[in-house]
Amino acid sequence: MVPDVLGGFMQVVEHYSKPGAQVILPTPGHKPFFKLPLSLGRRVVAVPMLADGEGWKMDLEAIASCLEGEGGIVILCNPHNPIGKVYLKDELVALSKVVEKHHARVLSDEVHAPLVFSGHRHVPYASISDITAGHTVTITSAGKAWNISGLKCAQIIFSNKKDLDLWDSVCFMPEHNVGRLGLVATRAAYLEGGPWLGEVIAYCDANRKLLTSLLRGHAPCVGYREPQGTYLAWLDFRTSGLGDAPAKFLAEQAHVACEEGSQFGPEGTGFVRLNLAMPSALLVEAMTRIGRVLAKPRNHTA
Ligand SMILES: Cc1ncc(COP(=O)(O)O)c(C=O)c1O
Repeated sequence: MVPDVLGGFMQVVEHYSKPGAQVILPTPGHKPFFKLPLSLGRRVVAVPMLADGEGWKMDLEAIASCLEGEGGIVILCNPHNPIGKVYLKDELVALSKVVEKHHARVLSDEVHAPLVFSGHRHVPYASISDITAGHTVTITSAGKAWNISGLKCAQIIFSNKKDLDLWDSVCFMPEHNVGRLGLVATRAAYLEGGPWLGEVIAYCDANRKLLTSLLRGHAPCVGYREPQGTYLAWLDFRTSGLGDAPAKFLAEQAHVACEEGSQFGPEGTGFVRLNLAMPSALLVEAMTRIGRVLAKPRNHTA
């Protein structure tokens, strides 16, 4: 147990890589992943994901050439914040071959694992084979799916004895700092929170579909692929005429708050990340307002 996922991330980077080591981050990537390794004297190497008509994929060739001769830690975020992708087993197996060949490791952030929509399946990376179990440390928590991050209880999952033995020698303070209410809430979530989670997923599922029809009606120029997991929508405003900072424009003009896509890496420029975990009526209101400001004549690009 550790208080939170990002604290666990720090512990893993600190104890399972050497100072100066590289941390490979497929981008777009969760914002703190860019900065946290730097504060521990590690190097962050952003490797842009490849986008095609099917969605985003890791650039395994580029990851392999970064790892060549150097190894390091590859960050896997599955389901993926911000793009909502749930990796297929075959994709994870392909990643594992590259990682193993270069004697590298995977730090697998699976905090969004319970939030996967029907038609998709979360495959825990470390569960795939002895190889993935041998080079992976997994971090998760009930924080996202049951909305209890503030209670401070996340979990690091070790899948080989060597890594667990190392953890046993450094774990006292991180475990000491875990929130006691968080322990109780986490236990309740994992053991008895299935029905509640089912309702949450059904609601977010309806919202991700509702967003498709709202965009069609109010903002057809905005690109959107329904997320496979998470409660995050990754919206492509690149052809909307709002320039490189659409979230700023939407906050100022439509009073709708989204995250600026460029914060998730240069590939996110012109995108915004919208949190779908809100009442449907609010989503309707947000999209109506966005549609209204997009329809207004503008004499500038943001
Ligand atoms: C992928 C991912 N990892 C980690 C976190 C942060 O989790 P915690 O608050 O437990 O550190 C978030 C939340 O935004 C997240 O989306």
